[in-house]
Amino acid sequence: PPPAWPHLYREGAPDSPVLLMLHGTGGNERDFVALAESIDPSAAVLAPRGPVQESGMLRWFRRFAEGQFDVDDVVRRAGELAAFIAEACAAYGLGDRRLIAIGFSNGANIALATALLHPESIDRAIAFSGMNPLPDREVDTDLSGSRVLMLNGDSDPFAPLASAERVVAVLAERGAEARHVVRAGGHGIDGSDLRAALDWLASP
Ligand code: MLT
Repeated sequence: PPPAWPHLYREGAPDSPVLLMLHGTGGNERDFVALAESIDPSAAVLAPRGPVQESGMLRWFRRFAEGQFDVDDVVRRAGELAAFIAEACAAYGLGDRRLIAIGFSNGANIALATALLHPESIDRAIAFSGMNPLPDREVDTDLSGSRVLMLNGDSDPFAPLASAERVVAVLAERGAEARHVVRAGGHGIDGSDLRAALDWLASP
C-alpha cells in the first residue's frame, strides 16, 4: 500500500528519474509540481507534505527562531523522511529509478540533512536557497557516491552564504561532489537557478 504520510505521486515515464519535491515553509506538496515539470516533464514526481506545523505553516523540522534549528529534530525528521522514501519506492516499484531530491528553503534544508545522514536514501540533491541544517553536528557518513548542487543568492537573509558554504564544505569533506552556484540576490528560485539545475542534471 502507498505510505500513510500525505504525499502527491505521479508515475511519469518508465525508467525516467524520480523527482522528490520538498516545499518550503508555508507550502505544501502541490507547490512544486510545475517546477518538477519544467525540470523533467517525463519524470515521476514524489512530493510529501511537511510534517511539522509552525503557526499553521507546514515545514520539515522544528526551529526555535528564524535560522535557529532544533538540530535533534532535524536528525529525527531526516530519518523519518528516509523511511518514507524507502516505503514509497517499495510501494510504487521505484527501486531501480534514480531519485533526485529537489528542495527549496526549508525543503532544501531537509534534503541536505537527509543527504548528509542517509546517503543510501538521498544521493542526488538540488538545494535552492538552502543552508547548513546540522550546525555543530559531526557528520561521519561516506558520501563518495553523492552529488549535490547548492544554489544560493549572495544576499539571502534566510540562507546566509556562510552557512551555505559550510554545508558545501562538509559535503566535500565526506567525499561528495558538491557544486555551489551563487548568484546576486536573495531567497527564491530564479531563471538562472533553474538553468544551473538543468545544466547540473545534464552533466554526468
Ligand atoms: C529554515 O527554517 O529552514 C530556513 O530558515 C528557511 C525557512 O525560512 O524555511
